[in-house]
Amino acid sequence: MAPGTLQGLFITFEGIEGSGKSTQIQLLAERLQAQNYTCVVTREPGGTALAEKIRDLLLDPEHTTMSPRAELLLYAASRNQHLHEKIIPALERGDIVICDRFYDSTTAYQGAGRVLEPALIQTVTDVAVGSHRPDLTFFIDVPVAVGLDRIRQRHGQLDRLESETLDFHERVREGYLAIAQNEPERVVLIDGMQPIPAVQQQIYHHLTTHFPSFL
Ligand code: TMP
Repeated sequence: MAPGTLQGLFITFEGIEGSGKSTQIQLLAERLQAQNYTCVVTREPGGTALAEKIRDLLLDPEHTTMSPRAELLLYAASRNQHLHEKIIPALERGDIVICDRFYDSTTAYQGAGRVLEPALIQTVTDVAVGSHRPDLTFFIDVPVAVGLDRIRQRHGQLDRLESETLDFHERVREGYLAIAQNEPERVVLIDGMQPIPAVQQQIYHHLTTHFPSFL
């Protein structure tokens, strides 16, 4: 959201698989809740009952024939539902919304990863989110080999996107690096190879520096 448009704060986390986003989101939410802020922690694809059903379609490893454009549109459908059913109402209440992935994931995965045309990605994203933007985005960067190693150790069966090639994940990471370079005002690049507490400290520092009057 453009700061000041809605009362709340919209924070998103981005990164390749195994970048440590979920751990950092949980730590940040606990810290803010301990200070009596109301946090809504949510994720994409998913976040509402309908959008979670779309998530199941997207991540099912059996859906090997899904076309890149069908994939793009399903992520966008999930996003629009999630935004209007959950994110905007929470921001109108003045809550802090912490979202695991948002439209930067589409730019990185469907744009850079699937190599869909930038203009198509932009058009579909505009349809899904209109003028709504995150107030701040943390891109937690780790090398692809590290991220993929972490998820392989975490669970047995990989989902449809996790099962993609090393090259695909390298392109996704490059896509994220380009977003961070193009939008330094909104996107904060954090080195995810640091110890968990150090990453958390940087995230918290950036948040309080960006929004001194809110936090
Ligand atoms: P995750 O929530 O467990 O990270 O799984 C979501 C997967 O979907 C992950 O591989 C990233 C991918 N994804 C996209 O390809 N495009 C998107 O727009 C979003 C939100 C996620």
